[in-house]
Amino acid sequence: MKLVFLGPPGAGKGTQAGKVAAHYGVPHISTGDMFRDAIGKGTPTGLKAKAFLDAGALVPDEVVIEMVAERLKGADCRKGYLLDGFPRTVEQAKALEDIIKAPDAVVNITVDDERLIGRLTGRRMCTGCKGTYHITRLKDPGVCPDCGAALIQREDDREETIKARLAVYHQKTSPLTRYYADKGTLCTVDGGQTPEAVREQIIAVLESRA
Ligand code: AP5
Ligand code: MG
Repeated sequence: MKLVFLGPPGAGKGTQAGKVAAHYGVPHISTGDMFRDAIGKGTPTGLKAKAFLDAGALVPDEVVIEMVAERLKGADCRKGYLLDGFPRTVEQAKALEDIIKAPDAVVNITVDDERLIGRLTGRRMCTGCKGTYHITRLKDPGVCPDCGAALIQREDDREETIKARLAVYHQKTSPLTRYYADKGTLCTVDGGQTPEAVREQIIAVLESRA
């Protein structure tokens, strides 16, 4: 199963991807997580990417494509993949087809911008188990309810940077919905429901295509 999750910042791509990837037995590959990891380790890719993430801008296509091409060579990708946050430009979508064949399905998770800002300003990430949470669902906004490690806010989850990320999404990434609709692989899911209902809808729409 070769899957792509498409959707604006805060749509719930990361929240849904882990469980959906486990359901299909494929690796969850988040380019945002890969960049944050590379920045944390100070690798050459991290050094190239940092200023773009801080500004809420896209990392240049050639840097992202090289990183994803390398990752998709992994033995765990033989059965397929779930890409979260890639492709984000038509150029990247074409590169994916050259690297490993086109995805079987592209899940487009839609949520309106106003709701996205609230989701992102209130998001907290666990430094231990890497889980994603929202302050409205936490008893203690500083402690992970699952593993007890410290929760932090992502650097790019400040309101000005969120607005920049949304503008970039509308300008550069949303044209991909047309691109994949024309190829017949686009499945649109209403991301404004509860996380459980969104997950059920994703699985249902994918099963209906199988
Ligand atoms: P990336 O990490 O991919 O960020 P993003 O696309 O902005 O998406 P997010 O991770 O912010 O949102 P999400 O959809 O995963 O939402 P989540 O599930 O966490 O990319 C970061 C940066 O890396 C980019 O800006 C760019 O610089 C660079 N980059 C990455 N890929 C690139 C590429 N291909 N090309 C170029 N540059 C690239 O949920 C958000 C919040 O909402 C959480 O608090 C969660 O608990 C809550 N929530 C989730 N679902 C629900 C629900 N159904 N109801 C209520 N709350 C919910
Ligand atoms: Mg994410």
